Amino acid sequence: MKTLVVKCFLLLALVCSCRAADSIWQLCNTNSNISASSQVSKNIDSLLATLVSKTPSKGFMTTTSSSYNNKEKVYGLAQCRGDISNTDCSTCIQDAAKKIREVCPNQSDSRILYDFCFLRYSQENFIGKLDTGAGLIYFNVANVTETDPKKFDNELGALFDKIRSEAVLPKSKGLGKGKTKLTPFVTLNGLVQCTRDLSELDCAQCFATAVRSFMTTCHNKKGCRVLYSSCYVRYEFYPFYFPLDPTKTGPSVSRISSVHLSP
Ligand SMILES: *[C@@H]1O[C@H](CO)[C@@H](O)[C@H](O)[C@H]1NC(C)=O
Ligand SMILES: *[C@@H]1O[C@H](CO)[C@@H](O)[C@H](O)[C@H]1NC(C)=O
Ligand SMILES: *[C@@H]1O[C@H](CO)[C@@H](O)[C@H](O)[C@H]1NC(C)=O
Repeated sequence: MKTLVVKCFLLLALVCSCRAADSIWQLCNTNSNISASSQVSKNIDSLLATLVSKTPSKGFMTTTSSSYNNKEKVYGLAQCRGDISNTDCSTCIQDAAKKIREVCPNQSDSRILYDFCFLRYSQENFIGKLDTGAGLIYFNVANVTETDPKKFDNELGALFDKIRSEAVLPKSKGLGKGKTKLTPFVTLNGLVQCTRDLSELDCAQCFATAVRSFMTTCHNKKGCRVLYSSCYVRYEFYPFYFPLDPTKTGPSVSRISSVHLSP
């Protein structure tokens, strides 16, 4: 088991009308520096073109790009959240491909996550490998006051047991989502998503690692997102996955904190 080290703690005042177009996490591995004019960089461009054109139809793809003789090979993965439309998927992957080259122009190992999609490439073959190294947590600083902490823990645990076991089934494409009523007025909404290259076992392992932060960093908080390269988990007191309940939109979030995780 890995020990998570809290490296940095930021207090952000986000007015969370979070547009789908904003990335929520990006990582440029500074042990993979390359020059922007290198052949590897050209291969990344060609990899991204393929991911942009071919991911939306199925919502997921892995591919490689290399020079002659398999040199300067780059592995890539792109995936959209399982509940979004092909159109939203297409827009998200396009944004991701553009943004990641702006953010990490000098690295060959880069990752970017949006609410709607995830994109990653590297010269190392990461496909099918569980990665819960670097991560990021966002949480609503407000405490749960609607129920007592014990009851909240139980309801949260039960909801996530259910959606986690759903998500690992092959037909689920790594996605699990669901909701439960905490009180007649408050509904807890949950979502879990694995990258689709993972085995059932690795996906389950990733979720187990991620939900552990519900009982630590996020304990008794009104909302929490735990993000890793292989999976993420999220709960909120407002609806955030599709189909949205039109009578209940409008996040109650005003202040969000974030914590970086490292292996
Ligand atoms: C990669 O580049 C970054 C930024 O220019 C630098 O801080 C870092 O030390 C470099 N890494 C290596 C391994 O040289
Ligand atoms: C990438 O490298 C170029 C050339 O060394 C440098 O001018 C630029 O600032 C670097 N970009 C980032 C985001 O580190
Ligand atoms: C939430 O509860 C914790 C522990 O009781 C307390 O330290 C913290 O100040 C509370 N946060 C807010 C925003 O009320």
